Amino acid sequence: MHAGRQLKIKFYVEPDPAALARRAAQYFVEMAGEAIAGRGRARIAISGGSTPKAAFQLLADPDQPWRWRMPWEQLDLYWVDERTVPPDHPESNYRMTREALLDQVPLKPEQIHRMEGELAPEIAADRYESELRNSFRLEGSESPRFDLIALGMGEDGHTASLFPHTQAIHELNRLVTANHVPRKDTWRITLTWPVINHASSVFFLIAGADKAAILKEVLTGPRDPERLPSQLIWPASGILTLILDKAAAALLPATDGEGCGVLERER
Ligand code: 6PG
Repeated sequence: MHAGRQLKIKFYVEPDPAALARRAAQYFVEMAGEAIAGRGRARIAISGGSTPKAAFQLLADPDQPWRWRMPWEQLDLYWVDERTVPPDHPESNYRMTREALLDQVPLKPEQIHRMEGELAPEIAADRYESELRNSFRLEGSESPRFDLIALGMGEDGHTASLFPHTQAIHELNRLVTANHVPRKDTWRITLTWPVINHASSVFFLIAGADKAAILKEVLTGPRDPERLPSQLIWPASGILTLILDKAAAALLPATDGEGCGVLERER
């Protein structure tokens, strides 16, 4: 499905990272509930990095409401991207998620679809593509439709492991690809952006003053996805949601009384 010409960008601005994490935890629970009400299961792909970690910790915290509201039994967890390191490596997105969330919540191994960063990049990408085809029961050129995809954004405008001026930006056919990132002198495994855009719901979690300028450029500046890969994210639903803290949203238009703002973008 090709996204339309119009994109409605809804952004929620929270006073600080802790409030952002609470809003994010609530959003995960609400979107999972919507998916399960519609289909009986929720298939969610999550990103790594530091921003989502606090939200994962809230989802896992037995003293917080979200731990008990999340329908864990009907959840299937996937990753948006992974570093090419073993699952117990300090840089592993899986390890961050295991420590912040998986070790504390009742997900069975078959509900956790890990990218095998320990393998050679191309093999890890191929195997994850097969994992998607099998678990989503895809046929032919079908693309997986995740119920929810959670993204972050780097200071360079990257998202997932779609880094500026890298090959994965041009990968339109594969579901998962290995992407060489010269600037980091490393390989990453990542969902491709057409797969991300095919999701029922896509949201960004972005915090910090160091993201304010690049976020403004991504959302309101001229289209230049080679330099600003986050601009590739244009969900087929025509709606993109962002949960921000005040520092990251500093250069965006003012929000309404509930801390919600809307931007429209034309292709
Ligand atoms: C990763 C993420 C990456 C992340 C951004 C933002 O593997 O690091 O998938 O795309 O979302 O780099 O990271 P922070 O949340 O740490 O700013």
